[in-house]
Amino acid sequence: KKASIGVTGLAVMGRNLARNLARHGHTVALHNRSEARTRTLVEQFGDEGDFIPAYSAQEFVNALERPRQIVIMVQAGGPTDAVIEEFAPLLEPGDVIVDAGNAHFADTRRREAALRERGLHFVGTGVSGGEEGALNGPSIMPGGSKESYESLGPLFEDISAKVDGDPCCTHIGADGAGHFVKMVHNGIEYADMQLIAESFDLLRGAAGYSPAETADVFSTWNTGRLESYLIEITAEVLKHVDGSGKPFVDIVEDAAEQKGTGRWTVQIGLDLGVPISGIAEAVFARSLSGSKPLRAAARGLAGPARTPLKGAALETFADDVEQALYASKVVAYAQGFNQIQAGATEYGWDIDLGAVASIWRGGCIIRAKFLNDITAAYAEDPALPTLLTAGAFRKAVEDAQDSWRSVISTAVQLGIPTPGFSTALAYYDGLRADRLPAALVQGQRDFFGAHTYRRVDREGSFHTLWATDSRDEVGA
Ligand code: 6PG
Repeated sequence: KKASIGVTGLAVMGRNLARNLARHGHTVALHNRSEARTRTLVEQFGDEGDFIPAYSAQEFVNALERPRQIVIMVQAGGPTDAVIEEFAPLLEPGDVIVDAGNAHFADTRRREAALRERGLHFVGTGVSGGEEGALNGPSIMPGGSKESYESLGPLFEDISAKVDGDPCCTHIGADGAGHFVKMVHNGIEYADMQLIAESFDLLRGAAGYSPAETADVFSTWNTGRLESYLIEITAEVLKHVDGSGKPFVDIVEDAAEQKGTGRWTVQIGLDLGVPISGIAEAVFARSLSGSKPLRAAARGLAGPARTPLKGAALETFADDVEQALYASKVVAYAQGFNQIQAGATEYGWDIDLGAVASIWRGGCIIRAKFLNDITAAYAEDPALPTLLTAGAFRKAVEDAQDSWRSVISTAVQLGIPTPGFSTALAYYDGLRADRLPAALVQGQRDFFGAHTYRRVDREGSFHTLWATDSRDEVGA
């Protein structure tokens, strides 16, 4: 019997994907650069399903039925290219190579084009959900050709997470679309985590809650509209008391690390000209947290005392923070979905935004009840310019805005940094403004560089002769 799919790269993510496939009744060929990992997998988990271990590239390729489907799960960058080069010469037209790592979508586009020339399908696929998701049901975001999805789709849908019976896997779009969408997923993940962290900081700094008390607040929120994996694990982390007897969150160094996908999202956001300020602030907040010498130098800078709130303000504070978190989260997701839209336009992908929200409902790190509303919003209007104008969100943010503003005012008064909340509100106010001071910026540009401006009342480009006393205007 031959294998319907093969996995090469059997570190924990690859191993768990292979086991997930086997547990669903698919025969899986296994390959790893060092043989030991392959042997260990078969020894430890061989009884979970049908595995065909292979100890050379040729053996691996021979073990697969056609069209051959090879999932590569190795480090992004050079190692991925090396593995592609190892297998591509052994494959035949119509075979499919899948890169399930966190590759940059531009690399995926390059690889897809090169392999297409050689008659092979290359599918860059986002896989979210960490080790646990890979084993028990991840959210899967495959790009590549429609044709490749015909054979690959059923397998991936089978092993993906399910929500209300729907698989958390769909064909995202051509070439790099899957990795692009996974990248934005991670950017949103950063923004969401930052907003939750700010909420914790506010509950502690402004309301004087202990970490355990904040955990209870998050647990309560997790029974409402904020219900999500990230809120759930936040409560778990905050509840945890370290062996030293201190709250876990107090013994961890407060420098957030990053592997790079959030940074990519921001870089591409800049290239596409999409204001994804929530994601950018989240990346910058991690960078600031990790700037040790800078923070040490700034430690004595003046600021207000963090006097905890009292009376009525204290009583409603947790609810106010919930509103601020919800509204800021809507902004972060609205920005992320706009980035996907912009990417789709730039690269010619036909991406169904509602389907993206739908496959993020389960398996992935940002899985949340809230995504149902995003799917519904795009079902109602696939051309929705921003989630903020969709019926349900418009109303919820309108209802939240007083609390949102008041929480940010409190943060400013007490000197508690809330870059995520603040930038989200600034974006909201910027979008809804009748007039922006950008008109003045245009005037400045025209003054020093004759960069010209457009008028509200006439067509065309104009330049004012700023150096003349008369300041005459000329059409440009
Ligand atoms: C996922 C995660 C996963 C990983 C990220 C975040 O969807 O399963 O996003 O891809 O946890 O790489 O890592 P950093 O926070 O280190 O950037």
